[in-house]
Order: sequence, then C-alpha cells, then structure tokens
Amino acid sequence: MESNSKKTTGLTRPLHDLHPPAGDLLSEVLTGLTAPQKTLPCKYFYDQKGSQLFDKICELAEYYPTRTEISILDQSAREISDKVGPKITLIELGSGSSSKTENLLQKIDEVQRYVPIDISREHLMEASERIAGRFPHIEVWPICADMNEEVSLPDDIDTTSKRVLFFPGSTVGNFEHESQIAFLSRMKRLCANVGDQLLIGIDLIKDIKTLEAAYNDAEGVTSEFNLNILQRINTELGADFKIDHFIHRAVFNKVKSRIEMHLVSVTDQVVQIQEEKFQFDSNESICTEYSHKFTIDGFVQMAQPIGWELEQAWTDKDQLFAVLLLRLGEL
Ligand SMILES: C[S@@+](CC[C@H](N)C(=O)[O-])C[C@H]1O[C@@H](n2cnc3c(N)ncnc32)[C@H](O)[C@@H]1O
Repeated sequence: MESNSKKTTGLTRPLHDLHPPAGDLLSEVLTGLTAPQKTLPCKYFYDQKGSQLFDKICELAEYYPTRTEISILDQSAREISDKVGPKITLIELGSGSSSKTENLLQKIDEVQRYVPIDISREHLMEASERIAGRFPHIEVWPICADMNEEVSLPDDIDTTSKRVLFFPGSTVGNFEHESQIAFLSRMKRLCANVGDQLLIGIDLIKDIKTLEAAYNDAEGVTSEFNLNILQRINTELGADFKIDHFIHRAVFNKVKSRIEMHLVSVTDQVVQIQEEKFQFDSNESICTEYSHKFTIDGFVQMAQPIGWELEQAWTDKDQLFAVLLLRLGEL
C-alpha cells in the first residue's frame, strides 16, 4: 500500500502501487487446468505481446466494438461533458493504453484528475506519462492494482470532488453474472458521494454471424492472441505446450448470451507444467474467455439494486454497442 517515492517524469503523482501479486500465475494455471472444464484466467492474456495483439484486434474490420464505442463517445462527448459537470476525478479501471480516455479528454475539459488503474505496471506507466505530457493541466495519479480485488485509493485523494468511474470496452462482460454484480458493488465503494457516476461500455446482443465474426477474424489475429497465453505459460512457467497442437475456437452461447473463447486440443496429448502433468483428449478445450452480451434494460436491472441508476444511454445507429452513464443514488 505504499506510494513509490521515486517521482516519475511528467507525472503529477508517483505510482500508487498496491502490488497485485504476480506470483499467482502458477497456482491459477494449475487450478484452472484441474477443473472438469479446463480454464485459464483471461487476465493473463495481457503480457507485452498480448497487449500488442489486443491493440491489433481493435483495428480489425470484423471487430466492431472498439470503433463503435469510440464513435459513440465522440458523438456524445458534449452531452457527457454536460452531465458529469466540472472538476471531476476520472477513475478508469483496466486502463491499458488509455487510448479511449485520451480521445475523450480532447473533447471534454471537465477532468481535473485522472486515476488510471491497471494490473500491468509497465503499460500503466507508459500510458500515464503520455497522458500527463499531453494534458499538463490534468493531475495523473496512476494506481497499479488488481480490479478483481478491493482497490484502495491514495489516502490524500479528496472526497469532495465528483468521481466518475470509466469502464469502457465492455470488459464487464468478461465476468460471469455474479462477478459482474460484485464488480459493480466494488465500483460503488470507489465512490465518495451520492451523485458520483459510472460511464460504462457494454456490447449489445445482436445476430450471431456478426458476433462470431468479431472473434474469428480472417487474418487470425484473435487466434494468435488466444494461443499467446500458452506461449506465456511456456515462457514464464517452463511448461511444454506445443502451440500448434491447439486451435482457437470462439462460439456464441445463446442461452448464456456470451461468446466463449476456447483453445481446443487437436490430438490426445500430455502437457507438463513444472511438477504437474495434464492429459488432453483430442477435441478437449480450455476455456480462456467469456464475453457476455447485454441488453440496456437487462444491464440496468442488474445495476439498480446495487444503487446505480441509469442517467443516460447512448448507442450507435445499428444498436451494436452502448455507453451508459449511471449515477449512484445511495451509498
Ligand atoms: C482489453 S484492455 C482494455 C483497455 C481499455 N480499457 C479499453 O477499453 O480499450 C484490458 C486491460 O485491462 C487490464 N487488466 C486485465 N485484468 C485486470 C485486472 N484484474 N486488474 C486490473 N487490470 C486488469 C489489462 O492489463 C489491460 O491493460
């Protein structure tokens, strides 16, 4: 919970480091691969290569969410600006390259302080320095933390300025339903006052063809991104996954309203990770990510009992994606 005393160039504040444990990769991988449906946690996609591949996915023709969300934010910037009001503290969860924020900050000048929170320290610092350099009038307070845990803000952050939490990218859809509720409750605990807000992007339910194409691009970038998690386990844990013995598969589960991303074993094989061996049957899969799709009404019904009330929803003309502004009605 300490603040790094070394001042970083260009930043208003040094890194507030909650030291999210890095050593959990082994235990989480072993636990995931021991379950009846083998799984790997999607947060481990984002090593340096994974983050670069994700940025590439965002540019793909088939991958509509990023460009659609950016265009909604662009077109609604004036209204967002009016609704959030002056001198806000903008807190972004899983901020990554902060590129959507950078775009938003060019259009709204209400932000006094930007608090990016990410588990990937290097990525976080690079983005924070870029934002601080580009917007010198904004205080940037980077926090390295795991958003799946309780995140404590620095003690000296004031409790009077309005807080607006920003969670774009429909990342909330990567959680299962119970965890979505838990996450929205943790977001509430990051607020200081009734009236604080949450600006959140959600991917909407649509035809299966469009949904599945977004996760099965013709160039194979999503496949490379998915398979990269095995490479990471090989590199960091000395495992012996044969990458070409697995293939990427992404399918829409209509009942659960989610894209399920898998790595499918193309043969019977055994993989060794340190002392442990894992048997894979031919066609057996490892589930690597869920990406739930929502309706605006369904999302609002989930958020309301927690205290989040819908203030405004913006969407694109094809109703592919929505950006919601929720307001905390009670603490
Ligand atoms: C897909 S990027 C999203 C970036 C940005 N918010 C956007 O919408 O473009 C996901 C980011 O979330 C971060 N992340 C993933 N799991 C996390 C966790 N448990 N806690 C904090 N950050 C996390 C990753 O490091 C990565 O930078």
